[in-house]
Amino acid sequence: MVGSGGREHALAWALARSDSLTELHAAPGNPGIAALASCHPVRADDTASLVPLACELDIDLVVVGPEAPLVAGVADALRQRGIAVFGPSAEAARIEGSKAFAKQVMEAAGVPTARTLPVARPPCVVKADGLAAGKGVWVCRTQAELDAGLRAAEALGQPFHVEELLEGEEVSVFALCDGTHALPLPAAQDYKRVGDGDEGPNTGGMGSYSPVPRLSDADVEQLVATIHRPVLAELARRGAPFVGTLFAGLMLTADGPRVLEFNCRFGDPETQSLLPRIDGDLLAVLAAAARGELAGASLPTSPQAAVTVVLAARDYPQRGDAGTPIEGVADAEATGALVFHAGTALHDRRLVTNGGRILNVTALGETVAAARSRAYDAARRIAFAGMRYRSDIAARAGA
Ligand code: AMP
Ligand code: GLY
Repeated sequence: MVGSGGREHALAWALARSDSLTELHAAPGNPGIAALASCHPVRADDTASLVPLACELDIDLVVVGPEAPLVAGVADALRQRGIAVFGPSAEAARIEGSKAFAKQVMEAAGVPTARTLPVARPPCVVKADGLAAGKGVWVCRTQAELDAGLRAAEALGQPFHVEELLEGEEVSVFALCDGTHALPLPAAQDYKRVGDGDEGPNTGGMGSYSPVPRLSDADVEQLVATIHRPVLAELARRGAPFVGTLFAGLMLTADGPRVLEFNCRFGDPETQSLLPRIDGDLLAVLAAAARGELAGASLPTSPQAAVTVVLAARDYPQRGDAGTPIEGVADAEATGALVFHAGTALHDRRLVTNGGRILNVTALGETVAAARSRAYDAARRIAFAGMRYRSDIAARAGA
């Protein structure tokens, strides 16, 4: 397992539950993952060291968490050495790595997305083309916001485009893909803004929940049939079959669903809410996908709901924090909640902060409301100086 965030801790937790697992290794992992796997001090984007590490350990399957190593070609380098990978090639990862490429693929596949605008006039959205860790999108409702967005986009020094501003509810829909087949996962919702009521700057994600009550299983299947499968077919037609998690960020508009973006990996923090709901053997399914054998596979899902609350550093997203002691993780876990580490480190065997998003607290319940109240009950047992979290995660999802 490649990566070190909350998503990767959730992946490691789900993989560790599989009967078919013999050994789990992580590069680099984090203190939470270290309880489940052997961690190796190799950075996720250090392809030159990851490949020999995987060879030396005789790894059967590599699961890649973050986008940057995929866009940089880590899956290609591993496959060249005969190692199976759940994660797309660099060419297929362009669906996330280049917004212009994603638009071309969607157009060719007939997938509905925001229209590109020939002239920049508010309301509109300015988007940088390449990977920008969530910082390459400016939603502009006024001329002043548009002026600022255009200046910021130019300052990034990448190509950018301007598209129509879509209104509606945002959902994340994931499908596990083997190059040809797509297996839908339950839908989830992410909270991107730092503050309650969706105030303040965009972040990597401050919380999530699953399922999304307004989307039935049949709705999710329908979305995957009209969005993910045509994109998968178009990528295969272009000689870039997609193996991995195809993640569509969608806006449910009054005129139907529209794609905001594709990602070539699991969502963070959606994965922390998704994987605890999976009853089936995730490892077996990811291994089948990596072999191109997803046809007929299924992944039973629990009817329970899950809610994840992100505990972040005081100045996140401007700045992270390091070295501040963290208390109460065992108390939180004693409630039955799952605590996934995102930005933590061990100093003299003491758990301390080490990043922007520090911990993720996930709880299950019969309803979203029940899961929500358990997640917050557990989160309140954890403390570190400057700890902040949103108090309204999953509030609007209701019972
Ligand atoms: P992206 O990185 O493309 O997902 O954009 C980040 C966030 O910007 C999305 O989660 C949306 O909240 C918002 N966004 C992106 N594109 C649009 C759009 N066309 N209309 C409205 N909001 C958008
Ligand atoms: N939670 C959104 C993302 O992972 O990009």
